[in-house]
Amino acid sequence: MRGLKGKVAIVTGAGSGIGQGIAKRLGCEGAKVIVDYVGTPEGAEETERAIEQAGGEGEIVKADVTNMEDVKALVDAAWNKFGSADILVNNAGMEKRSDFWDTPEEDYDKVMAVNLRGPFFLTQAFVRRLRDAKRPGHIVNISSVHEDMVFPGFATYCCSKGGMRMFMRDLAVELGPLGIMVNNVAPGAIATPINKALLEDKPKLNALLGNIPLGRMGSVDDVAGVVAFLVSDDAAYITGSTFVVDGGLMRNYREQ
Ligand code: BGC
Repeated sequence: MRGLKGKVAIVTGAGSGIGQGIAKRLGCEGAKVIVDYVGTPEGAEETERAIEQAGGEGEIVKADVTNMEDVKALVDAAWNKFGSADILVNNAGMEKRSDFWDTPEEDYDKVMAVNLRGPFFLTQAFVRRLRDAKRPGHIVNISSVHEDMVFPGFATYCCSKGGMRMFMRDLAVELGPLGIMVNNVAPGAIATPINKALLEDKPKLNALLGNIPLGRMGSVDDVAGVVAFLVSDDAAYITGSTFVVDGGLMRNYREQ
């Protein structure tokens, strides 16, 4: 990809799944990567090793996107370690299943805090730095096909991802004049830890695969390639859009 060498990227949730794939890919493309994680550090260490083996540079930062101090510290880490930041990938996310009528308040608060409030204020901290330094930049949110498509049993997740869609559209307009581009990547069914229960439930998995025209789950690399493109110079005129990476799932509504 053109223009990624030497750029500084912050990737949240980069210790596993899609975030790990994105951090590794950006690192391999020559970007310097702030590898954010929560919980245990092993995954983030693996990400950093992969980046270094590819000749790149990574810096691990433990920061919980639901905590305002952590959020500021995460952006500061990029400027302290690498002198600036150019790219923010809001990837950290979670989902919790429950019938709507049984959904506990804590689950609503947690899912919204990780998936929407966190990206909101992390992006704010990132944009303030860019604005003050008069630098352009890229923001990519990892949303989901469920920013648009229903997901019964996951109303909290749908609320958060639908919110992320309008967050992106609003920011594209507000931040365009600052030279900051904002887009969403909407993965479908990707083989990652968030899908552990599904991957272990053969009948459910087969039913889902039957709905995917390409006939397979996606890989983290399928998503990472699109993110790398969107933050490269090849995507210099793209802002305000969602890029669906789902093997055709969203287009495959059929009456049973
Ligand atoms: C969810 C997965 C789901 C997939 C397709 C993703 O956003 O995290 O649990 O399988 O969408 O429905």
